[in-house]
Amino acid sequence: MKSIFAAVAVAGLMVAGNAMATDMPADGKAKCGACHKIDTKLVGPAWKDVAAKYKGNKDAEATLVANITKGGQFGWKMGQMPAKGMGANEAQIKDLAKFIMTL
Ligand code: HEC
Repeated sequence: MKSIFAAVAVAGLMVAGNAMATDMPADGKAKCGACHKIDTKLVGPAWKDVAAKYKGNKDAEATLVANITKGGQFGWKMGQMPAKGMGANEAQIKDLAKFIMTL
């Protein structure tokens, strides 16, 4: 009985651990992953840094959707972001903007 309880507790911990480790959504990997990572700079800024830049800005999500859609320069001095990354559609861009602001 005790060992069953322990096994359940361990399984529970593993599930919780997975939920906490942030991973880029599949669309992000496919359309943005060549240039962005969550925690570190690559060609473009780390998405955690983007979230920090817009923290407390109530228009953050809408601004990100607009910026990702049109691409260009946003003051990071890292170069040019291509419009829509590598061909993301409107729904994917919205989801990714929402995801970035959860970081
Ligand atoms: C070819 C490389 C490249 C790809 C692909 C790319 N980005 Fe970027 N991204 C950049 C660069 C470079 C910057 C920084 C521009 C600057 O210096 O201001 C940037 C900046 C950003 C920013 C910051 C905007 C802001 O307002 O500060 C966000 C958010 C972002 N990218 C999201 C995405 C998303 C989402 C995708 C995929 C749909 C994507 N990027 C695909 C290169 C890329």
